[in-house]
Amino acid sequence: MIYVSRKEHFNAAHKLYNPQWSKEKNQQVFGPCANENWHGHNYDLIITVSGETDPETGFVVDLKKLSVLIKAKVLEPLDHQNLNVDVSFLQGKMPTTEVLAMEIWNILDLEVPAITKFGKLYSVKLYETPRNFVEYFGPQL
Ligand code: NI
Repeated sequence: MIYVSRKEHFNAAHKLYNPQWSKEKNQQVFGPCANENWHGHNYDLIITVSGETDPETGFVVDLKKLSVLIKAKVLEPLDHQNLNVDVSFLQGKMPTTEVLAMEIWNILDLEVPAITKFGKLYSVKLYETPRNFVEYFGPQL
């Protein structure tokens, strides 16, 4: 089993705010991410595909194809958008790094089989800041 990764980048705005709580409680829980008038993050996204190598190419997955796929299905809907307002698959959801990583998984898990015979989506690693990141390995079945 070998693991192949592609790193991508996008910028997006959001706020973390539970409308059932007071402004004070939101600020206490979410800190600067609760700012009413939004704020931005520079996200780094690392997509990992695991599997065996294709005997014809030596690749698990063609990273050019993976990059094109990530750009079309993930970066296109997210880059320079407001995650609370502009993104259809985040409607009604709290746009935390955790939720975003799981939604990105759901999108790519359906698409990766079309570009590789020998690999499958292994993980979505999403950095919201250089020090804060989450990793999602899919639902535990
Ligand atoms: Ni934030």
